[in-house]
Amino acid sequence: MADLTGKIALVTGGGNGIGLASARALKAAGATVVTAGRNEKRAQDFRDNYDDVFDKVYVADAGSVPETNAFVEQVGKDYGRIDVIFANAGFGEPAPLGHITEENFDKQFNVNVKGVIFTVQAALPYLNEGASIVLNSSIANQLGFANFSVYAATKGAVKTLGKIMAAELVGKGIRVNVVSPGPIDTGFFGATGMDEKQQAEMGEYITNQVPMRRFGKAEEIGSYVAFLAGSGSTFMTGTEVEIDGGMATL
Ligand SMILES: NC(=O)c1ccc[n+]([C@@H]2O[C@H](COP(=O)([O-])OP(=O)(O)OC[C@H]3O[C@@H](n4cnc5c(N)ncnc54)[C@H](OP(=O)(O)O)[C@@H]3O)[C@@H](O)[C@H]2O)c1
Repeated sequence: MADLTGKIALVTGGGNGIGLASARALKAAGATVVTAGRNEKRAQDFRDNYDDVFDKVYVADAGSVPETNAFVEQVGKDYGRIDVIFANAGFGEPAPLGHITEENFDKQFNVNVKGVIFTVQAALPYLNEGASIVLNSSIANQLGFANFSVYAATKGAVKTLGKIMAAELVGKGIRVNVVSPGPIDTGFFGATGMDEKQQAEMGEYITNQVPMRRFGKAEEIGSYVAFLAGSGSTFMTGTEVEIDGGMATL
């Protein structure tokens, strides 16, 4: 297991699913872990339920640049530095071509892309040599999931951002890598707006596309995020790691 003793780790979207499992893995490795809820109520939920995971829970909507800037700057001021970032907050709202609205587009790009860029940018003054940034993309960035064009485009942007950020920060000794999960059993599909029947049908369809014939567990992403954050991965930067039961490759 990675040793992150004394490291300050900032996780966006840390209160559920992949973010929570990653926060737990970072905490178990010894890091001080902080996150933000999208509003005061969500932040309080995370404080009440996960005080064993989070050292501090702030308030920031990941789709708001002013709130993201204020959150990250406050973490920097409170702890003096940031060693690990897991830019994870995100969601998908499917819509077939012909039904994509500007609102649908903006909501997904604001959280999934703008949120990632401004989280990292606001952290720059607090990132030092040895810091590790992990961005959460998706294998949707390379598969043809009908109705998920905008979501897939956001995740393609995240994958590319990871490479460019890695190139810009390599001279400072700061690493940037991207994880691309396959289908993971989290609140993601419930948050898409699909009803339970649609979710069940989609779940069955997706399971059949995965060579391992199952959804992944959030912990199977979290353990890799902790690995990328730690000293076991110090020669890795600018990479995308697919964690998908073989879905994109086999
Ligand atoms: N599950 C999958 O199959 C899968 C596959 C590939 C990639 N991913 C990516 O993994 C990331 C995490 O998703 P998940 O599967 O763990 O889903 P999840 O269980 O729904 O968790 C998403 C987290 O992000 C937070 N979040 C969403 N929008 C936010 C906003 N505007 N401001 C602040 N927080 C916000 C949510 O907060 P609330 O608790 O308040 O809703 C929640 O804590 C996403 O970027 C997703 O695209 C997921």
